[in-house]
Amino acid sequence: MNRKMTVEDIEVSGRRVILRVDFNVPLAEETGEITDDSRIRASLPTIKYLSEHGARVILLSHMGRPGGKVVAGLRLAVTAERLSQILGQPVPVTSDCVGVEVEKAVAGLKNGEVLLLENLRFHSGEESGDASFAEALASLGDVFVNDAFATSHRAHASIVGITRHLPSVAGFLMEKELKNLSGILENPAHPFASLLGGAKISDKVGMLENIMSKVDLILIGGGMAATFLKAKSYEIGRSLLEVDMIDTAARLMEKAGKEKTGLLLPNDVVVADELSNEAETAIVPVENIPRDRRIVDIGPRTIADFSKELQNCRTVFWNGPMGIYEIPGFAGGTQELAKIIANLEAITVIGGGSTAEAVNEMGLTDKMTFVSTGGGASLEFLGGQMLPGVAALPDKQ
Ligand code: 3PG
Ligand code: MG
Repeated sequence: MNRKMTVEDIEVSGRRVILRVDFNVPLAEETGEITDDSRIRASLPTIKYLSEHGARVILLSHMGRPGGKVVAGLRLAVTAERLSQILGQPVPVTSDCVGVEVEKAVAGLKNGEVLLLENLRFHSGEESGDASFAEALASLGDVFVNDAFATSHRAHASIVGITRHLPSVAGFLMEKELKNLSGILENPAHPFASLLGGAKISDKVGMLENIMSKVDLILIGGGMAATFLKAKSYEIGRSLLEVDMIDTAARLMEKAGKEKTGLLLPNDVVVADELSNEAETAIVPVENIPRDRRIVDIGPRTIADFSKELQNCRTVFWNGPMGIYEIPGFAGGTQELAKIIANLEAITVIGGGSTAEAVNEMGLTDKMTFVSTGGGASLEFLGGQMLPGVAALPDKQ
């Protein structure tokens, strides 16, 4: 794809620069503390560049899905505090993202200072892409920078609407995401394998269809494997099943056969009687899944088979955990595959969301070629769709 204009292509010194970031970080349920700050760190190069070049930086972000009203637990103070620690300079946060208080705070900004505005999604106009809300946001700045790749599949006011009012460019994270993800679509080194997991096929159909002709091999684990197994008439017990996706799974397997793309399913799985760490578990071949059990992870033979296939690959894209990763006892398959991929001599690209969190948690991020910050956004991008937030940014001259 064509490269986008970036912050380096415009004058920022002394100007009010509105920088849309995705600080939608996971929070611990009880304490509300940030459990993975990699999305904040990922935008640091852009924030630093702007600040060092004398811009007055106005950060916009959403957090969670408050649905157009104020939700105390989704205020951005925790992210402002974390950013301030990593950046080494104060980052004040306003109590709203539009209005008189915000205008005053913006007017008081000096060159190089950074201000964070409150959660955009406290206003319903954000998600509906309301034109006057977009205009109110735009009125706060002189230029707009989009570094929120992870939200650019949403045609929201702060992603698309705002670009109609201000000169707009990409930030460095946006640039890096587009370069790495389009790289695996456009000219991947072969053999190219995609390892897919996670709960649902429905999230990944578009992506699967689009990459089918580009990859040599598809390895399927995680909850979605159960629907594929069902489509091949295996007993899957009480495993998660997407009934309306059985035909799709069958069609995808048939398509893979026609295109001579290998498609591997687990040949053994871990089954459990309940979804808890105290569950009774067993490793069984997929021919012998008991009726009263459910699949919670891939088995050791599958790990070995997947590993053997991956060793030959020169490009690997991974999205989706291999089992119910949130429960430590069912995280083994995901952890083993993460280690295997981290040690490959290959281009390794990891889709965002829970896969990225698992890789970050295991400290393997630096051993991967690229870990995307985008969950849904990276899936849509690899599904061949033009993301509205990306389409709204001008190409490099
Ligand atoms: C994400 O985490 O997927 C992005 O921040 C977008 O959030 P959303 O899925 O709630 O739109
Ligand atoms: Mg999402």
